[in-house]
Amino acid sequence: MSAPDRTQVAIVGGGPAGLMLAHLLRRRGVDSVVLEARPRQRVETRQRAGILEHGTVEALREVGADARMDALGMPHDGFELRFSGRSVRVDMQELTGEHVMIWAQTEVTKDLIALRLEQDEPLLFDAEVLSVEDVETDSPSVRYRHDGAEHVLRADVVVGADGSYGPARRAIPDHLVRRFERIYPYSWLGILADVAPSSHELIYARGRTGFALASMRSSSVTRAYIQVPNGTDAADWADEAIWDELAARFALDSGEHADREPFTLARGPITDKSVTPMRSMVTEPMRHGRLFLAGDAAHIVPPTGAKGLNLAVADVRVLAEALSEWFATKDETLIDAYSDTVLRRVWRAAHFSWTMTTMLHVDPDGDPFDEQLALAHLRHIATSESARRALAENYRGLALGAV
Ligand code: PHB
Repeated sequence: MSAPDRTQVAIVGGGPAGLMLAHLLRRRGVDSVVLEARPRQRVETRQRAGILEHGTVEALREVGADARMDALGMPHDGFELRFSGRSVRVDMQELTGEHVMIWAQTEVTKDLIALRLEQDEPLLFDAEVLSVEDVETDSPSVRYRHDGAEHVLRADVVVGADGSYGPARRAIPDHLVRRFERIYPYSWLGILADVAPSSHELIYARGRTGFALASMRSSSVTRAYIQVPNGTDAADWADEAIWDELAARFALDSGEHADREPFTLARGPITDKSVTPMRSMVTEPMRHGRLFLAGDAAHIVPPTGAKGLNLAVADVRVLAEALSEWFATKDETLIDAYSDTVLRRVWRAAHFSWTMTTMLHVDPDGDPFDEQLALAHLRHIATSESARRALAENYRGLALGAV
């Protein structure tokens, strides 16, 4: 497909943020072109987290990318925390009246791409953006390379949804940008395995030697993670060593929970292994002139609590509303408010993800004081319904406008 050379909204990046924005805009009568630097196959196979908040599910329904999610996604009413050999269930449904959906980001992306192509709307893969220009004027443009030739796409507005290393953000002069960052002193080793999940709900554990998470992709595929030192090579971990470490970190004291089935970790063939570093990053503002940033291009959260995709979708829900209002009426109120509006949610999620991360990981550089604080926090959640409710509200996601 070749793209038109002029559109209303030029979207740099064909991940979930860019694709979802294109769909929401189309439903509001606004044209866009999506330029994605990587090949389709790469975009569709990137492993990311897998929990959708209620608002994200709603957005997928609104654009009509919900059929496979409804057939294959798994609604979860709660999750489990483990620490010091004990287990606590956080019952989201009871505490908040809502659940989350287990449905992997890769699947969301596949559905959004298929829908865009089915609609015959412009989406270019292997389209490498070289620069975003003239964002301080009312006719910004994007220069990109596709099929060996250079092209220019003119637009009324450019949206940078091109991830944390993408080129769009560079169109904002350095002296106008504030960047906040935290690098964590550990990474996640993640596996996919052909074995049924050991538990019907997710388990987040603070084991003696570090964090572990039991998740799933389907009733026959397990997704699990363990905390490992930064710089770890996944190839250095033998499959059995990973299972042993998971089992140790999920272990419950005998005697505790005598009323429930004993927990056994189901092991099976590991089909994928990878290491993810953990960091938090926020760039402010998320708008400069006719350039708007959305998703990872403006903020990164560590994967604990799975907020990344949900934040990206929340950004573009606000942005689609603001842009369509502006195209329809030329009223600038909503586009002017965009950055401040979404940054409130971004910082809420930044704080939540940081809390979950520090509470559940063992800091290799930490001291016994840090450890006791984390355990005190976990015991507070175990014993206080209001602490569990606060956790559950953040986990299932706050309504747009509630932050
Ligand atoms: C995942 O299934 O990949 C996952 C689930 C929950 C998280 C993070 C990742 O908090």
